[in-house]
Amino acid sequence: MAQASSILVTGAAGFIGFHTALRLLQAGQRVVGIDNLNDYYDVTLKEARLKKLREFSHFAFRKVDIADRPAMEKLWADSGPFLEVVHLAAQAGVRYSLTNPYAYVMSNCLGHLTVLEMCRHTPGFKHLVYASTSSVYGGNTKVPFSVQDPVNAPLSLYAATKRSDELMSHTYAHLYQLPQTGLRFFTVYGPWGRPDMALFIFTKAIAEGKKVPVFNGGDMQRDFTYVDDIVSGVVAALAHPPQGQALPHNVYNLGNTRSENLMDFVRLIEKELGRKADIEFLPMQAGDVKSTYAEISESTAAFGYRPTTNIEQGIPKFIAWYKDYYHVS
Ligand SMILES: NC(=O)c1ccc[n+]([C@@H]2O[C@H](COP(=O)([O-])OP(=O)(O)OC[C@H]3O[C@@H](n4cnc5c(N)ncnc54)[C@H](O)[C@@H]3O)[C@@H](O)[C@H]2O)c1
Repeated sequence: MAQASSILVTGAAGFIGFHTALRLLQAGQRVVGIDNLNDYYDVTLKEARLKKLREFSHFAFRKVDIADRPAMEKLWADSGPFLEVVHLAAQAGVRYSLTNPYAYVMSNCLGHLTVLEMCRHTPGFKHLVYASTSSVYGGNTKVPFSVQDPVNAPLSLYAATKRSDELMSHTYAHLYQLPQTGLRFFTVYGPWGRPDMALFIFTKAIAEGKKVPVFNGGDMQRDFTYVDDIVSGVVAALAHPPQGQALPHNVYNLGNTRSENLMDFVRLIEKELGRKADIEFLPMQAGDVKSTYAEISESTAAFGYRPTTNIEQGIPKFIAWYKDYYHVS
Protein backbone atom coordinates (compact mmCIF):
# COMPACT_ATOMS: atom_id res chain seq x y z
CA MET A 1 0.00 0.00 0.00
CA ALA A 2 1.19 3.53 -0.80
CA GLN A 3 2.29 5.64 2.15
CA ALA A 4 0.90 8.96 3.29
CA SER A 5 3.56 11.09 1.65
CA SER A 6 2.87 9.87 -1.90
CA ILE A 7 2.16 12.55 -4.47
CA LEU A 8 -1.04 11.94 -6.44
CA VAL A 9 -0.70 12.52 -10.19
CA THR A 10 -4.02 12.49 -12.05
CA GLY A 11 -3.89 11.67 -15.76
CA ALA A 12 -0.68 9.68 -15.15
CA ALA A 13 -1.19 7.61 -18.33
CA GLY A 14 -1.47 10.83 -20.34
CA PHE A 15 1.34 12.66 -22.12
CA ILE A 16 2.24 15.28 -19.50
CA GLY A 17 1.11 13.16 -16.52
CA PHE A 18 3.45 10.36 -17.60
CA HIS A 19 6.45 12.71 -17.91
CA THR A 20 5.64 14.39 -14.60
CA ALA A 21 5.25 11.09 -12.73
CA LEU A 22 8.51 9.86 -14.29
CA ARG A 23 10.42 12.95 -13.13
CA LEU A 24 9.05 12.63 -9.59
CA LEU A 25 9.84 8.91 -9.47
CA GLN A 26 13.37 9.51 -10.75
CA ALA A 27 13.80 11.99 -7.89
CA GLY A 28 12.88 9.20 -5.45
CA GLN A 29 9.39 10.48 -4.71
CA ARG A 30 6.58 7.99 -4.11
CA VAL A 31 3.82 8.51 -6.67
CA VAL A 32 0.29 7.22 -6.98
CA GLY A 33 -0.98 7.71 -10.53
CA ILE A 34 -4.62 7.58 -11.58
CA ASP A 35 -6.27 7.64 -14.99
CA ASN A 36 -9.50 6.35 -16.49
CA LEU A 37 -7.63 5.17 -19.62
CA ASN A 38 -10.35 6.49 -21.92
CA ASP A 39 -10.12 5.88 -25.66
CA TYR A 40 -10.02 9.50 -26.86
CA TYR A 41 -6.77 8.36 -28.47
CA ASP A 42 -4.88 5.07 -28.77
CA VAL A 43 -5.11 3.33 -25.39
CA THR A 44 -2.06 1.16 -26.12
CA LEU A 45 0.06 4.34 -26.01
CA LYS A 46 -1.34 5.11 -22.54
CA GLU A 47 -0.60 1.55 -21.44
CA ALA A 48 2.93 1.73 -22.83
CA ARG A 49 3.56 4.88 -20.79
CA LEU A 50 2.24 3.14 -17.67
CA LYS A 51 4.51 0.16 -18.33
CA LYS A 52 7.52 2.48 -18.01
CA LEU A 53 6.20 3.99 -14.79
CA ARG A 54 5.59 0.54 -13.34
CA GLU A 55 9.34 -0.14 -13.55
CA PHE A 56 9.57 1.93 -10.37
CA SER A 57 8.72 0.05 -7.19
CA HIS A 58 7.58 3.32 -5.58
CA PHE A 59 4.89 3.84 -8.24
CA ALA A 60 1.32 2.60 -7.88
CA PHE A 61 -1.41 2.91 -10.48
CA ARG A 62 -5.16 2.88 -9.88
CA LYS A 63 -7.70 3.03 -12.70
CA VAL A 64 -10.01 5.73 -11.38
CA ASP A 65 -12.27 8.30 -13.02
CA ILE A 66 -11.80 11.69 -11.31
CA ALA A 67 -15.48 12.50 -11.82
CA ASP A 68 -16.51 9.34 -9.91
CA ARG A 69 -16.88 10.59 -6.35
CA PRO A 70 -17.19 7.20 -4.56
CA ALA A 71 -14.15 5.91 -6.50
CA MET A 72 -12.14 9.00 -5.49
CA GLU A 73 -13.18 8.58 -1.85
CA LYS A 74 -12.10 4.94 -1.98
CA LEU A 75 -8.78 5.95 -3.55
CA TRP A 76 -8.13 8.44 -0.73
CA ALA A 77 -9.11 5.84 1.90
CA ASP A 78 -7.00 3.04 0.38
CA SER A 79 -3.93 4.89 -0.94
CA GLY A 80 -4.06 8.37 0.61
CA PRO A 81 -4.42 10.75 2.15
CA PHE A 82 -2.60 12.85 -0.43
CA LEU A 83 -1.15 16.13 0.78
CA GLU A 84 0.22 17.10 -2.64
CA VAL A 85 -1.73 16.61 -5.86
CA VAL A 86 -0.68 17.27 -9.46
CA HIS A 87 -3.95 17.32 -11.34
CA LEU A 88 -3.42 16.78 -15.07
CA ALA A 89 -6.34 14.50 -15.98
CA ALA A 90 -8.73 16.20 -18.37
CA GLN A 91 -10.53 15.87 -21.62
CA ALA A 92 -8.00 17.74 -23.75
CA GLY A 93 -8.20 18.96 -27.34
CA VAL A 94 -9.91 22.04 -28.78
CA ARG A 95 -11.47 20.46 -31.85
CA TYR A 96 -13.03 17.41 -30.15
CA SER A 97 -14.93 19.76 -27.81
CA LEU A 98 -17.21 20.60 -30.73
CA THR A 99 -17.97 16.89 -31.24
CA ASN A 100 -18.32 15.65 -27.67
CA PRO A 101 -18.96 18.61 -25.34
CA TYR A 102 -20.28 16.40 -22.52
CA ALA A 103 -16.90 14.68 -22.09
CA TYR A 104 -15.40 18.10 -21.29
CA VAL A 105 -17.94 19.03 -18.65
CA MET A 106 -17.70 15.56 -17.05
CA SER A 107 -13.91 15.37 -16.78
CA ASN A 108 -12.95 19.03 -16.61
CA CYS A 109 -15.77 20.50 -14.52
CA LEU A 110 -17.17 17.64 -12.41
CA GLY A 111 -13.72 16.01 -12.28
CA HIS A 112 -12.03 19.23 -11.15
CA LEU A 113 -14.69 19.80 -8.51
CA THR A 114 -14.18 16.26 -7.17
CA VAL A 115 -10.42 16.82 -6.91
CA LEU A 116 -11.05 20.12 -5.09
CA GLU A 117 -13.46 18.45 -2.66
CA MET A 118 -11.05 15.60 -1.90
CA CYS A 119 -8.20 18.05 -1.25
CA ARG A 120 -10.20 20.39 0.92
CA HIS A 121 -11.35 17.56 3.19
CA THR A 122 -7.74 16.41 3.71
CA PRO A 123 -6.29 17.69 7.01
CA GLY A 124 -2.84 19.28 6.54
CA PHE A 125 -3.29 19.49 2.78
CA LYS A 126 -0.24 21.23 1.26
CA HIS A 127 -0.70 22.02 -2.44
CA LEU A 128 -2.82 21.31 -5.50
CA VAL A 129 -1.14 22.08 -8.82
CA TYR A 130 -3.51 21.82 -11.77
CA ALA A 131 -3.34 22.22 -15.54
CA SER A 132 -5.01 25.08 -17.33
CA THR A 133 -4.32 26.12 -20.90
CA SER A 134 -3.29 28.97 -23.18
CA SER A 135 -6.71 28.42 -24.82
CA VAL A 136 -8.26 30.52 -22.02
CA TYR A 137 -6.79 33.60 -23.77
CA GLY A 138 -9.23 33.04 -26.66
CA GLY A 139 -8.62 35.46 -29.49
CA ASN A 140 -6.33 37.70 -27.43
CA THR A 141 -4.34 39.87 -29.83
CA LYS A 142 -2.12 41.57 -27.27
CA VAL A 143 1.20 39.75 -27.25
CA PRO A 144 2.77 38.20 -25.35
CA PHE A 145 -0.19 36.74 -23.40
CA SER A 146 0.06 37.80 -19.77
CA VAL A 147 -1.75 36.36 -16.75
CA GLN A 148 -2.91 39.96 -16.21
CA ASP A 149 -4.83 39.90 -19.53
CA PRO A 150 -8.60 39.42 -19.48
CA VAL A 151 -9.73 35.83 -20.08
CA ASN A 152 -13.47 36.26 -20.32
CA ALA A 153 -14.06 35.26 -23.92
CA PRO A 154 -13.14 31.60 -24.57
CA LEU A 155 -13.53 30.44 -28.19
CA SER A 156 -14.11 26.74 -27.46
CA LEU A 157 -15.91 24.69 -24.85
CA TYR A 158 -12.54 23.18 -23.93
CA ALA A 159 -11.28 26.68 -23.05
CA ALA A 160 -14.52 27.46 -21.21
CA THR A 161 -14.20 24.35 -19.01
CA LYS A 162 -10.54 25.09 -18.23
CA ARG A 163 -11.39 28.69 -17.34
CA SER A 164 -14.16 27.30 -15.12
CA ASP A 165 -11.51 25.24 -13.33
CA GLU A 166 -9.55 28.40 -12.57
CA LEU A 167 -12.69 30.07 -11.23
CA MET A 168 -13.67 27.07 -9.10
CA SER A 169 -10.13 26.98 -7.71
CA HIS A 170 -10.32 30.69 -6.90
CA THR A 171 -13.53 30.04 -4.96
CA TYR A 172 -12.00 27.14 -3.01
CA ALA A 173 -9.00 29.29 -2.11
CA HIS A 174 -11.39 32.00 -0.92
CA LEU A 175 -13.80 29.75 0.99
CA TYR A 176 -11.46 27.09 2.36
CA GLN A 177 -7.93 28.55 2.04
CA LEU A 178 -7.03 25.62 -0.22
CA PRO A 179 -3.43 26.22 -1.50
CA GLN A 180 -3.38 25.94 -5.29
CA THR A 181 -1.41 26.81 -8.39
CA GLY A 182 -2.96 26.78 -11.87
CA LEU A 183 -0.58 26.44 -14.81
CA ARG A 184 -1.59 27.57 -18.29
CA PHE A 185 0.35 25.27 -20.62
CA PHE A 186 1.21 26.48 -24.14
CA THR A 187 1.15 23.75 -26.87
CA VAL A 188 3.24 21.03 -25.29
CA TYR A 189 5.18 18.60 -27.50
CA GLY A 190 7.83 15.92 -27.14
CA PRO A 191 8.40 12.15 -26.95
CA TRP A 192 5.34 10.07 -25.96
CA GLY A 193 3.21 12.96 -27.27
CA ARG A 194 -0.48 13.00 -28.09
CA PRO A 195 -1.66 11.52 -31.42
CA ASP A 196 -4.29 14.27 -31.80
CA MET A 197 -1.75 17.11 -31.78
CA ALA A 198 -0.07 18.85 -34.73
CA LEU A 199 3.46 17.47 -34.35
CA PHE A 200 2.23 13.88 -34.18
CA ILE A 201 -0.29 14.31 -37.04
CA PHE A 202 2.26 16.02 -39.31
CA THR A 203 5.01 13.50 -38.55
CA LYS A 204 2.73 10.50 -39.16
CA ALA A 205 1.37 11.93 -42.42
CA ILE A 206 4.81 12.84 -43.78
CA ALA A 207 6.29 9.46 -42.73
CA GLU A 208 3.42 7.61 -44.44
CA GLY A 209 3.43 9.82 -47.56
CA LYS A 210 -0.09 11.03 -46.86
CA LYS A 211 -1.60 14.53 -47.16
CA VAL A 212 -0.61 16.87 -44.33
CA PRO A 213 -3.60 18.96 -43.20
CA VAL A 214 -2.51 22.54 -42.43
CA PHE A 215 -5.21 24.88 -41.22
CA ASN A 216 -5.75 28.59 -41.95
CA GLY A 217 -3.47 28.28 -44.97
CA GLY A 218 -0.56 27.78 -42.55
CA ASP A 219 -0.98 31.28 -41.14
CA MET A 220 -0.83 30.27 -37.47
CA GLN A 221 1.68 30.89 -34.73
CA ARG A 222 2.17 28.72 -31.68
CA ASP A 223 4.33 28.99 -28.60
CA PHE A 224 5.51 25.34 -28.71
CA THR A 225 6.81 24.18 -25.34
CA TYR A 226 9.01 21.12 -24.90
CA VAL A 227 7.58 18.65 -22.40
CA ASP A 228 10.70 18.52 -20.19
CA ASP A 229 10.45 22.30 -19.70
CA ILE A 230 6.77 21.95 -18.77
CA VAL A 231 7.58 19.19 -16.27
CA SER A 232 10.35 21.32 -14.73
CA GLY A 233 7.76 24.06 -14.29
CA VAL A 234 5.18 21.71 -12.77
CA VAL A 235 7.66 20.19 -10.30
CA ALA A 236 9.08 23.60 -9.34
CA ALA A 237 5.59 25.04 -8.89
CA LEU A 238 4.64 22.09 -6.66
CA ALA A 239 7.55 22.94 -4.36
CA HIS A 240 6.39 26.56 -4.10
CA PRO A 241 2.85 26.63 -2.69
CA PRO A 242 1.35 30.12 -2.28
CA GLN A 243 2.56 31.63 0.96
CA GLY A 244 1.58 34.69 2.97
CA GLN A 245 -1.38 35.39 0.68
CA ALA A 246 -4.91 36.06 1.88
CA LEU A 247 -6.12 34.04 -1.10
CA PRO A 248 -3.72 31.09 -1.65
CA HIS A 249 -4.21 30.62 -5.40
CA ASN A 250 -1.98 31.76 -8.25
CA VAL A 251 -2.18 31.19 -11.99
CA TYR A 252 0.94 31.21 -14.19
CA ASN A 253 1.86 30.71 -17.83
CA LEU A 254 4.16 27.87 -18.83
CA GLY A 255 5.27 28.51 -22.41
CA ASN A 256 8.52 28.70 -24.31
CA THR A 257 7.99 32.42 -24.90
CA ARG A 258 8.79 32.08 -28.64
CA SER A 259 5.86 32.17 -31.03
CA GLU A 260 6.75 30.00 -34.04
CA ASN A 261 5.20 30.06 -37.51
CA LEU A 262 3.42 26.79 -38.19
CA MET A 263 5.11 26.43 -41.58
CA ASP A 264 8.58 26.71 -40.00
CA PHE A 265 7.49 23.91 -37.70
CA VAL A 266 6.46 21.78 -40.71
CA ARG A 267 9.80 22.49 -42.47
CA LEU A 268 11.72 21.28 -39.40
CA ILE A 269 9.76 18.02 -39.38
CA GLU A 270 10.44 17.54 -43.10
CA LYS A 271 14.15 18.15 -42.53
CA GLU A 272 14.31 15.68 -39.67
CA LEU A 273 12.39 12.96 -41.54
CA GLY A 274 14.25 13.64 -44.81
CA ARG A 275 10.94 13.74 -46.70
CA LYS A 276 8.80 16.48 -48.25
CA ALA A 277 5.31 17.13 -46.91
CA ASP A 278 2.36 16.86 -49.31
CA ILE A 279 0.50 19.80 -47.76
CA GLU A 280 -3.22 20.29 -47.99
CA PHE A 281 -4.09 23.83 -46.95
CA LEU A 282 -7.44 23.99 -45.17
CA PRO A 283 -9.54 26.82 -43.70
CA MET A 284 -9.33 27.82 -40.05
CA GLN A 285 -11.07 25.30 -37.80
CA ALA A 286 -13.96 26.39 -35.59
CA GLY A 287 -12.85 27.03 -32.02
CA ASP A 288 -9.17 27.39 -32.93
CA VAL A 289 -7.05 30.47 -32.21
CA LYS A 290 -4.62 32.02 -34.68
CA SER A 291 -1.68 32.55 -32.38
CA THR A 292 -0.34 32.00 -28.89
CA TYR A 293 2.66 33.56 -27.18
CA ALA A 294 3.43 33.33 -23.46
CA GLU A 295 4.72 35.99 -21.10
CA ILE A 296 6.54 33.99 -18.41
CA SER A 297 8.24 36.56 -16.17
CA GLU A 298 5.88 35.84 -13.24
CA SER A 299 6.59 32.09 -13.48
CA THR A 300 10.34 32.76 -13.53
CA ALA A 301 10.09 35.05 -10.49
CA ALA A 302 7.81 32.74 -8.49
CA PHE A 303 9.47 29.36 -8.98
CA GLY A 304 12.44 29.81 -11.30
CA TYR A 305 10.75 28.61 -14.49
CA ARG A 306 13.23 28.88 -17.40
CA PRO A 307 12.51 26.87 -20.55
CA THR A 308 15.70 25.74 -22.31
CA THR A 309 14.58 23.70 -25.34
CA ASN A 310 13.75 25.35 -28.66
CA ILE A 311 11.95 23.57 -31.53
CA GLU A 312 15.23 23.00 -33.40
CA GLN A 313 16.28 20.81 -30.46
CA GLY A 314 12.88 19.45 -29.42
CA ILE A 315 11.49 18.27 -32.78
CA PRO A 316 14.43 15.88 -33.43
CA LYS A 317 13.87 14.38 -29.96
CA PHE A 318 10.20 13.77 -30.75
CA ILE A 319 11.00 12.27 -34.15
CA ALA A 320 13.68 9.98 -32.70
CA TRP A 321 11.08 8.66 -30.24
CA TYR A 322 8.41 8.35 -32.96
CA LYS A 323 10.71 6.33 -35.25
CA ASP A 324 11.75 4.04 -32.43
CA TYR A 325 8.25 3.53 -31.01
CA TYR A 326 6.51 2.98 -34.36
CA HIS A 327 9.47 1.20 -36.02
CA VAL A 328 9.82 3.78 -38.80
CA SER A 329 13.13 3.65 -40.67
N1 LIG B 1 -0.61 18.95 -24.30
C1 LIG B 1 -0.86 20.26 -24.39
O1 LIG B 1 -0.39 20.94 -25.30
C2 LIG B 1 -1.69 20.94 -23.34
C3 LIG B 1 -1.85 22.33 -23.46
C4 LIG B 1 -2.62 22.99 -22.51
C5 LIG B 1 -3.16 22.31 -21.44
N2 LIG B 1 -3.01 20.95 -21.36
C6 LIG B 1 -3.60 20.27 -20.22
O2 LIG B 1 -2.61 19.47 -19.61
C7 LIG B 1 -3.20 18.30 -19.06
C8 LIG B 1 -2.53 17.07 -19.58
O3 LIG B 1 -2.70 17.04 -21.00
P1 LIG B 1 -2.04 15.95 -21.93
O4 LIG B 1 -1.56 16.64 -23.14
O5 LIG B 1 -1.12 15.11 -21.12
O6 LIG B 1 -3.36 15.13 -22.34
P2 LIG B 1 -3.63 13.56 -22.32
O7 LIG B 1 -4.97 13.38 -22.94
O8 LIG B 1 -2.48 12.82 -22.92
O9 LIG B 1 -3.69 13.23 -20.78
C9 LIG B 1 -4.85 13.35 -19.99
C10 LIG B 1 -5.09 12.01 -19.31
O10 LIG B 1 -6.21 12.17 -18.46
C11 LIG B 1 -7.00 11.00 -18.55
N3 LIG B 1 -8.38 11.37 -18.22
C12 LIG B 1 -9.25 12.11 -18.94
N4 LIG B 1 -10.42 12.22 -18.30
C13 LIG B 1 -10.28 11.55 -17.14
C14 LIG B 1 -11.14 11.28 -16.03
N5 LIG B 1 -12.40 11.73 -16.02
N6 LIG B 1 -10.67 10.56 -14.99
C15 LIG B 1 -9.40 10.08 -15.00
N7 LIG B 1 -8.54 10.28 -16.03
C16 LIG B 1 -8.98 11.00 -17.07
C17 LIG B 1 -6.86 10.52 -19.97
O11 LIG B 1 -7.11 9.13 -20.10
C18 LIG B 1 -5.41 10.88 -20.29
O12 LIG B 1 -4.56 9.78 -20.09
C19 LIG B 1 -4.70 18.41 -19.37
O13 LIG B 1 -5.35 18.99 -18.27
C20 LIG B 1 -4.74 19.34 -20.56
O14 LIG B 1 -5.97 20.00 -20.66
C21 LIG B 1 -2.28 20.26 -22.29
